[in-house]
Amino acid sequence: MDLMTREKLTEVVRLGNEGRFREAEAITRALLRRDRDQRESFILHFRLKRRRHEALRQHLQEQRGAEIDFLPRRLTFVALGTTGLCNASCMHCPTGKTTTDQMPRVPMPLPLFESIMRQIDDLGIILQGQISFGLFGDALLDPHVQRRVQFVRETLPEASISINTNGAAYDRARHSGIAEEQIILALHCESLKPDVYGILMQPLQFQRVLPKIEQILADFGSKVLVSVPVTRLNRDELPAIDAFFRQRGVGDLGFDIFSSRCAEERTVFETLALAPVKNRCGPDVHEQLIVDCDGKVLICCNDFRRVEVIGDLARQNLLDVLLHPERRRMVEQFATGRENERSSCSACYCDQKIEGIHGRGVQPATEKSDTVA
Ligand SMILES: C[S@@+](CC[C@H](N)C(=O)[O-])C[C@H]1O[C@@H](n2cnc3c(N)ncnc32)[C@H](O)[C@@H]1O
Ligand code: SF4
Repeated sequence: MDLMTREKLTEVVRLGNEGRFREAEAITRALLRRDRDQRESFILHFRLKRRRHEALRQHLQEQRGAEIDFLPRRLTFVALGTTGLCNASCMHCPTGKTTTDQMPRVPMPLPLFESIMRQIDDLGIILQGQISFGLFGDALLDPHVQRRVQFVRETLPEASISINTNGAAYDRARHSGIAEEQIILALHCESLKPDVYGILMQPLQFQRVLPKIEQILADFGSKVLVSVPVTRLNRDELPAIDAFFRQRGVGDLGFDIFSSRCAEERTVFETLALAPVKNRCGPDVHEQLIVDCDGKVLICCNDFRRVEVIGDLARQNLLDVLLHPERRRMVEQFATGRENERSSCSACYCDQKIEGIHGRGVQPATEKSDTVA
């Protein structure tokens, strides 16, 4: 820890002891804005924010009674449709298909976005996990992506921001500034073979996207996390994909479990899946917030057809959305194994996790023996 940080943290403790919690939190916020990996700042910020939340909670309980018990103290995952637009229509993705052609394909208005972020902070809710941009669209097609990153870093500096993209829309002039920020760039790439890539990530073409991928790797380096949904078409290629990206210095790779994305028609899914099973989620969905580009709140980031709308942040405030009776019903359903009462959940299938395939990367056998030697 540098001297300046140590002095600031001492100041935070002093202000806290004097009961000047707002001033103390302003300092931890600034410290995390500078470096969200600074552990001591994170811990003190967490405590100050929790303290503020508990005070507000007590006040709300006096006003609104027991319903406040249902208010989450933290969010572990926030997914935002920062834009509904995508430049691809991957073979297995509902985006760009007739089943989703009525869905909004616009950027989320900045005032709506900023209001959601401010309300999370005003409620003293810690964003303990990831905030992910680009729900059913591609985050780099959003004209406000850089402004949004900066706003989240200022408002919720504890959050881990993930910008989800296939990379095709990368434009150095518009996007390279984002690399200055503490973010993860989740780069979706399903194959390095032009024919397989062209089938899975249609209508994108590997030869045209590759130069963009190379620019992203050069500009974002270890901030890149490569996301590879694993299917029958790319499973044999995983060691090559792993080697290609690791040699180019990415932070990590995720060989992800393939999902049906709650599609009613599962022919493509079943053709591509390795070992499909019915998916089930637990009641921790309570600590997740999924908001599409027009403010509609959904129960799941896989509900591309938006059949389960449980709030609308363009019309309601966040407190009312988090206490919405439909949200409570959802948690009860998930806690008692009745999630199939939700039509999106009844259509939710995914691959079983396979050891040695899914996870953080598969090293080629030759590399493993090199390492041992
Ligand atoms: C739906 S995409 C939206 C953001 C952006 N367009 C992209 O492709 O990254 C978000 C993430 O889902 C992953 N993904 C796409 N289709 C999937 C599927 N059928 N099963 C599991 N993950 C999938 C992608 O790798 C990506 O990281
Ligand atoms: S997976 Fe991402 S890139 Fe592919 S169509 Fe869906 S939203 Fe677009």
